[in-house]
Amino acid sequence: MTIDRNARLREVQSWGDHFRFVIDAPAIGRDARPGQFVMVKVSEGSAPLLRRPLGIHDADATGIELFFRVAGRGTEILSRKRAGERLDIIGPLGRGFTLAPAAKGRTAYLAGGGRGIAPLYFLARALTAAGAKPVIFYGGRGLADIPLRDRLEKAGFEVQCSTDDGSFGFAGFVTALVEKELARVKPAVVYACGPDPMMKALAAITAKHGLPAEFSLESIMGCGIGACWGCVHRIRNEGGDGWVKICEEGPVFPGERILWP
Ligand SMILES: Cc1cc2nc3c(=O)[nH]c(=O)nc-3n(C[C@H](O)[C@H](O)[C@H](O)COP(=O)(O)OP(=O)(O)OC[C@H]3O[C@@H](n4cnc5c(N)ncnc54)[C@H](O)[C@@H]3O)c2cc1C
Ligand code: FES
Repeated sequence: MTIDRNARLREVQSWGDHFRFVIDAPAIGRDARPGQFVMVKVSEGSAPLLRRPLGIHDADATGIELFFRVAGRGTEILSRKRAGERLDIIGPLGRGFTLAPAAKGRTAYLAGGGRGIAPLYFLARALTAAGAKPVIFYGGRGLADIPLRDRLEKAGFEVQCSTDDGSFGFAGFVTALVEKELARVKPAVVYACGPDPMMKALAAITAKHGLPAEFSLESIMGCGIGACWGCVHRIRNEGGDGWVKICEEGPVFPGERILWP
C-alpha cells in the first residue's frame, strides 16, 4: 500500500456524469491487481473529510485509471479536477478477483451493472493475458448508463449490453441477459460488480447452474484500511456466519460465502 500525495491527473474523459481519470501514480499502478481499490482525497480542505473508495479501472507501471459516476458531494468535487492537477491517493487496497486457473483456454463471464463496470476492464485484460476469453455483460437503466461500451469493444473484448428501458442492446436486466447466454455457453467462472440486487440475483443464477462466481461488494467506507469498522458485511465462514470488514477481507468474495441483505 502506498500513500501517493503527488499523483498527477494526466487525462480526463467524460460522458455526462461519468468520468474516466488517467493518473500518474507509478507505485500504486505497479502493485495493483484487478478488483482492488484506492481511497481518494477529493478536496484540499476538510470537507468532505473522508476519502472516497473507487475501484481500479486499469493499471500499469505508470499509474492507474479510475472510472466513476457522480453520486454525491465527494464524486462531484472529484469530477471538477482537470488534467495536470495533483491528487492524494492511498492504494492499492483490499483483496481483488481470483484469476481462476480453470478459466485458461475457456470463457469467463464478467457482469457489470452501471458504475460496477469500473473494475471489470482491468480484470478482462488480466484474464486475456492469462489465456482466458472474457465476455463482458454491461447493463444500465438506459443508454446513458453504459458509456464504456465503445472503449470495451475497441479493446477487443466481446461485449453484450443490456438496458432496462430497451434503449440499447438486450431489453431487460443484465442478469436476464447472462441467464439467456448461459443456455448457449457455460463459462468456467462468473465475476460481477454492481448494485446489491443485481449481484444477489446473479448469485442465485450461478448457484443454480453450479458455477463458481466472485462478487465485488460495495459499502460506505470511512477509512478503507480496516480501522473504523464502517464497512462490515455478513459472510459465511467455516466456523459459522460472521461480520467481516469489506475493505480488508474484500471487496471481492466468492459467491457461496456472501449472505445477501
Ligand atoms: C470498494 C469500492 C469501490 C468502488 N468503486 C467505485 C468505482 O469504481 N466507481 C464509482 O463510481 N463508484 C465506486 N464506488 C462507490 C463510490 O465510493 C461512492 O459512489 C462514493 O463514495 C460516493 O461519495 P459521494 O461523496 O459522491 O456521495 P455521498 O454524498 O457520500 O453519497 C451519495 C449517495 O450515495 C450513497 N453511497 C455513498 N457511498 C456509497 C457506496 N460505497 N456504495 C453505495 N452507495 C453509496 C450514499 O448513501 C448517498 O445516498 C465504490 C465503492 C466501494 C466501497
Ligand atoms: S472502511 Fe474502515 S474498516 Fe473498512
